[in-house]
Amino acid sequence: MKGIVLAGGSGTRLHPMTLAASKQLLPVYDKPMIYYPLTVLMLAGIQDILIISTPEDLPQFRRLLGDGAALGMRFSYAEQPRPEGIAQAFLIADAWLAGAPCALVLGDNLIFGEHLSTSFRAAATRPDGATVFAYQVRDPERYGVAVFDKSGRVTDIIEKPQDPPSPWAVIGLYFYDARVTEFARSVKPSLRGELEITDLNRLYMEDGSLQVERLGRGCAWLDAGTPDSLLQAGAFVQTIQSRQGLLVGCPEEVAFRMGFIDCATLRAHAKRLGKTELGRLLHDLADGVHA
Ligand code: DAU
Repeated sequence: MKGIVLAGGSGTRLHPMTLAASKQLLPVYDKPMIYYPLTVLMLAGIQDILIISTPEDLPQFRRLLGDGAALGMRFSYAEQPRPEGIAQAFLIADAWLAGAPCALVLGDNLIFGEHLSTSFRAAATRPDGATVFAYQVRDPERYGVAVFDKSGRVTDIIEKPQDPPSPWAVIGLYFYDARVTEFARSVKPSLRGELEITDLNRLYMEDGSLQVERLGRGCAWLDAGTPDSLLQAGAFVQTIQSRQGLLVGCPEEVAFRMGFIDCATLRAHAKRLGKTELGRLLHDLADGVHA
């Protein structure tokens, strides 16, 4: 399976911070925001990743991430000239995908929790259909919302309903089979002029092949799209890391744990990060402290 990180848009809710910088490159505590969704795809076992952003911001992502070889990954890059919808990512990625199944993650979503990587790996290896995840929130009207019947089967999926029929928001991480570009091509622009990811999910639902997995209490899902949520996300990462000495959203650590790089390469990354706390924690990992 291949993966896409969608990191475009204009980040207007974070102005003036995003007037001269991409939202997905802003720091969330000690790392650029994109590291968090990127590591989610890596934890799902995906090594071939396309980063999509605006023509202005794409060079900065290239500078940060390169070709991915140092992480045992393959990174490619593509432009989205205008934010014309999340589902447009699959039209942009069509040639690169070359018929492969694909996961998509939004560049401003932070997902963290025990056992999640097992769920992500299962979703990535499911041969047919689509898998998405729902998380209970207090403000579902801000998101795509999933409705379930008594047996837990999804019966409806609605984008930003004024009067939400359920508290289950669909998070910004989606796994699709090889039909995804074909389905994406039949999505029509919504009233706000966007190719909605919810409409793509609806096509899978109507096909009878959409699986919506509900995430429980032990998981955290944050989007860092406003000054408050950005600060909260940073505080969350800082709390976990300083309390437990565990890293959140660190590509070098994930690459090592997934077997994409060896211990010598991990040590080289730790050395490059110098005297930072991140560098120290990676040294500890290489020394087997957190094995
Ligand atoms: O965060 C999960 C939610 O993301 C889902 O529950 C919704 O169904 C989905 O529509 C989306 O809602 P948002 O209101 O958060 O979408 P937004 O337009 O803010 O875009 C999310 C991210 O994707 C944002 O960081 C910018 C990026 N983006 C968005 C669009 C529409 C792009 O890079 N290109 C685009 O064309």
